[in-house]
Formats: sequence, C-alpha cells, structure tokens
Amino acid sequence: MHFLNLKDLSKGQITELIQKAKKLKEENQYSEKLKGKFLGLIFEKASTRTRISFEVAMAQLGGIASFFPIDDLQLGRGESLEDTSRVISSMTNAIVLRTLEHETIERFSAFSSVPVINGLSDLSHPCQILADLLTFDENNGEIEGQKVAWIGDFNNVCYSYEEASKLMGFELHVASPKEFWPSEETRNKLSVTFTEEIDKALSNSSLVTTDVWVSMGKEKEKDEREKSFKEFKVTPKIMDLAKKDAIFLHCLPAIRGQEISPDMLEDERSRVWSQARNRLFVQKSLLLHLLKD
Ligand code: CP
Ligand code: NVA
Repeated sequence: MHFLNLKDLSKGQITELIQKAKKLKEENQYSEKLKGKFLGLIFEKASTRTRISFEVAMAQLGGIASFFPIDDLQLGRGESLEDTSRVISSMTNAIVLRTLEHETIERFSAFSSVPVINGLSDLSHPCQILADLLTFDENNGEIEGQKVAWIGDFNNVCYSYEEASKLMGFELHVASPKEFWPSEETRNKLSVTFTEEIDKALSNSSLVTTDVWVSMGKEKEKDEREKSFKEFKVTPKIMDLAKKDAIFLHCLPAIRGQEISPDMLEDERSRVWSQARNRLFVQKSLLLHLLKD
C-alpha cells in the first residue's frame, strides 16, 4: 500500500500506529526489524525533519536509507517519472517523495511496485499529522471530541489536519483572511469551520496550531501573503483564549515575528520540540506498518 494521504489509513490503523510509536519511543532501542530493507528518499524541496527522521528511523531499525536529490537523478535530465519509478522501486523496499506538485507523487506511485510515502506535497503532509497526533495524545490524551484551532494559511499541513479531523472525530476551526479561504465549492466538501475571527477559533480549543504564511513553492505570493496574514499570529496572549490545558504545536520551520510572536515557541504551552522529535517515532512506526507485515 502507499501512504499518500492520511485517509489511506483507517482510524483503527492510525490509533495502532500512534500507540506503536509511543512504545518505540519508550524503548528507544536499536533493533533489526527492518534488516535488509532499503528506503529511497527523493526530494524536490528542502527538508530537515522529514529527511533526517526517515534516515535515522531506518538506521535504528537495522535498515538503510539513501537520499537522492532530484537533480542528481536522470529525472533531472528528462528521464520520465514513470520510468524512474519502475526502476527505483525494482531495487528498493519503499520510497519517500517530497514534491512541488501532489500529482507527481500520484503518478510516481502508480508505477511503483513498493510503498510510496508522501513526505510533503503542495496538497498534504500526512507524516506530520501522525507526529502531531502522537504529541497531543502524550499531553492531553484522546483527541476525539476535542476542538482544534488552526491560525493562518489553509495549506498542505492544514489539509492533512482536515483529513485527521474526519478520521479521528475532532472539530477543526481555521482562522484566516477570507481571500485565502478555499472556494465555496471546496469549503462545502471540507469538515472545517472557517472564520476571520481568531477568538472564535480559539475559544474552547485544546490544541492551537499554525504554520508559515509562505509555504515552499508559494514564494511569488510572499508580499501579498505577509500583508494579508499580518493579524493571524499566535502569541502567548492569544493562547489565553484557548482552554487552560491547551497545547501549541507548529510543524516547523517557523518564522518568529510572522505566524508566531518571538516568544511563542518557548511558551510553557508550546510542545514544538517534542513534536519535532516525535517525527522519528511515528516514522519508525509507519515504516514497520508498511514494510514488516
Ligand atoms: N515539518 C517538516 O516537515 O519539516 P521539514 O521541512 O524540515 O522536513
Ligand atoms: N507548509 C510548509 C510546511 C513545511 C514543513 C511548506 O510546505 O513549506
């Protein structure tokens, strides 16, 4: 199976995967569960957490991972994506792809004989949400029935939150400027409450989260976005509008002074550093799910 979006897993599988990740974190041990397995990583865009967590996960599970920058492959010289997929998948056990366009991952996976994992596309970032779900679980327990506030751009990470909200049964409220909301037709298909009022999104929320205003690939819109999103910033003061035990998450990288105030990452309600480290444990759990059985 491929893992292109969160909905490729069922609620039961996600719950199992998170519990397994928790166990792997507690044990924090080297094993040879993936001995002899080889993971390829093909990235069109920069990455710190995704690349390193997958590479370390494979090493700690006794397997091997190799990173292939897209321009070093013949793909960068015009070899077709389909031929590349057939060849690489014939020699590896799984492939992580990070692409500008989600369609690239879909086309690649259609020709791959091994599991393809979405390591972020313009549409979604399912691996990130697994880490967020683990972090919430560790701090506040069950997410079902809770309210989650996303402040800022309805982007790839937020799209995966939307899928998670449907699968796991929590409410997702997005506060962002109206001109950046998806079309009405799209909004009608999403289980999201959009608002321009930050306090409405935050009230009664157990989880407050955000991401950069300018995602990779959107650099041309930088000036317009920085102007429109100016008021959609998470600060310790804004966090006071959420539930008393609410936590703050950010997938990182963050831009202090834009989507967060300079002190937000170090606020006592911030869990961003354990969230980032949790990428390692959910990646291990995901790899075991996809490769072991
Ligand atoms: N959160 C996340 O995916 O980070 P990287 O871009 O560093 O992989
Ligand atoms: N939305 C951000 C996430 C980076 C992990 C981006 O796509 O650049």
